[in-house]
Amino acid sequence: MAKLDQYINLQIDELTSKSKKMLHCLARAAKVARTDIPVFICGETGTGKTLLAQALHNSSLRKANDFVSFNASALSETLLESHLFGHEKGAFTGAVSQVRGKFELADEGTLFLDEVADMSLGAQAKILRAIEYGEFTRLGSEKILQSDARIISATHKNLFELCEEEKFREDLLHRMNGLTLYVPSLRERREDLPAIIANEVRRCAQSMNKDIHSLHPEAFDKLMAHRWPGNLRELHRVIQVAVLFTDEDAIREEDVEFDHQVHSTGIQTRLLTKIELDEEDMSLDSAVLKHIGKVFDFTGNNKSKTAKLLGVSRSTLDRKLEELK
Ligand SMILES: Nc1ncnc2c1ncn2[C@@H]1O[C@H](COP(=O)(O)OP(=O)(O)OP(=O)(O)O)[C@@H](O)[C@H]1O
Ligand SMILES: [Mg+2]
Repeated sequence: MAKLDQYINLQIDELTSKSKKMLHCLARAAKVARTDIPVFICGETGTGKTLLAQALHNSSLRKANDFVSFNASALSETLLESHLFGHEKGAFTGAVSQVRGKFELADEGTLFLDEVADMSLGAQAKILRAIEYGEFTRLGSEKILQSDARIISATHKNLFELCEEEKFREDLLHRMNGLTLYVPSLRERREDLPAIIANEVRRCAQSMNKDIHSLHPEAFDKLMAHRWPGNLRELHRVIQVAVLFTDEDAIREEDVEFDHQVHSTGIQTRLLTKIELDEEDMSLDSAVLKHIGKVFDFTGNNKSKTAKLLGVSRSTLDRKLEELK
């Protein structure tokens, strides 16, 4: 898997694209980069949200200071608090020394809150306080500390929908979301695929010391026709395997293999996978399913908007999806 550090020094203007949607996203990013406005990055898994957050920092006035990344998923509330705000020696069993938290480390730099949708409501309340007032205390201390960290957050989940379901605090979303940057899926920026494929082939070949510079037209067509539910991350993996398998100087069709089993969890992704597998299915149900999939694509997987465009309620859409699954 490509490591983010290959891209770690990139600035926004070094990210190029031919896609209208991606150019729109990059233009917004370039405008907001040099301000302290909190940025909320959304988009499907593997689209490059983390990379964009790093590029925002690199293009900001804070670039000489730290980019501190924090993944909020899978941490208990106490652990999350200790990671974010730090703790004093003896604050809890196992706290053998004083530790500074991410907010403190990101002072005058950027604090990147990744996978924010996965935070518990309790954790959200604590983060809200810290973001709102720039003030926090280390666990085990009463002393109020201050941090001037610029906040960038990201998730592949639909936070607006989670707010509706009361699983995410609306006030926190508003606080984090000074500006939304939507990173389009690869399906929405197909015009970029040839350049991204060529670049990945070059990079993978280089890292494996192989002399591969091109693709057979059938291999290229196969890559172009794929739906890429895992986006850039999936593309990188598929090309890496293709480069590994190829014994010639060009990638052959049989070297390109897709993984249909492991994709992200959203119902719409399952839906799209089903569409791929059932390409020969001519039934009315299949046509309805394809249409719903297209509308999900159009709305960037926003269920409320999708239901509205389809002219049905969210619960009807849910029921229909259950029926068609
Ligand atoms: N412009 C690009 N060209 C090629 N590869 C890229 C590009 N942007 C990102 N990648 C690669 O795609 C992978 C996913 O990128 P990243 O981690 O930024 O996605 P993400 O949207 O944050 O995913 P997730 O939602 O799972 O956190 C990384 O391995 C990264 O190196
Ligand atoms: Mg990420």
